[in-house]
Amino acid sequence: MQVRDVVIPEHVAIIMDGNGRWARKRMMPRTYGHAQGSRIVEQICKDAYNMGIKYLTVYAFSTENWRRPKSEVDELMKLLRSYLANSIKDSSKNNMKVRVIGDISILPDDMQSSIYELEKASEKNTGLQFTVAINYGSRDEIVRAARAAARDAAEGRISYDDINEELFSQYLDTRDIPEPDLLIRTSGEKRLSNFLMWQTAYTELYFTDVLWPDFNKDELAKAVQYYSSRTRKFGTV
Ligand code: IPE
Ligand code: IPE
Ligand code: MG
Repeated sequence: MQVRDVVIPEHVAIIMDGNGRWARKRMMPRTYGHAQGSRIVEQICKDAYNMGIKYLTVYAFSTENWRRPKSEVDELMKLLRSYLANSIKDSSKNNMKVRVIGDISILPDDMQSSIYELEKASEKNTGLQFTVAINYGSRDEIVRAARAAARDAAEGRISYDDINEELFSQYLDTRDIPEPDLLIRTSGEKRLSNFLMWQTAYTELYFTDVLWPDFNKDELAKAVQYYSSRTRKFGTV
């Protein structure tokens, strides 16, 4: 058997799932799992970049997650708020460009300001292109895109006939980001849960039973290895 070099995906997307179960296994409240889960994100970003991954996109809070108990939603918002605040210095230290996808218009004003500041402060960074999905749902994203395209058509900026897959994708939140090559979901669930449904049409899917707070560089390397074994990029059949 010929040993080939590992093919590194350019863009990896991750559904970071299993925080609640991780905490329950330790007889701790679910929020303890969320805290640990958010703590490991920075290290995964560094590991991904060191492996040669250029784009990393993570699902932090879905449009459906508002239906969780208020105390859990409040705790998740608190963690996201402090994550966004700390990310300004982390992104400059790690040369990371950070952006947020999802409908942020309903987030508290201070979080929206942190997002604008963070995106602005990191926009020229040339390292990992890191995208965080907050209040993100694919259906919501597609509906918002359709509305914006319809408005542009109605107001004469584009013609209805111009709307094709390529133009439509320019209305999505991910307009500047290539489609993911590999999607990882932790915790054993095998569904997309409304994440990047348009963008993952041809993405390789990798599921692992590892719970998100236990995810690490070795687990990321296993996912990349899987991708490498599946991909036919270099003309093999
Ligand atoms: C993922 O962990 C984090 C978010 C959805 C915000 P969960 O909270 O879904 O953890 P499980 O799936 O209940 O274990
Ligand atoms: C998906 O996980 C959302 C995030 C990881 C942010 P969930 O745990 O919310 O998804 P379901 O409810 O199991 O589909
Ligand atoms: Mg879950």
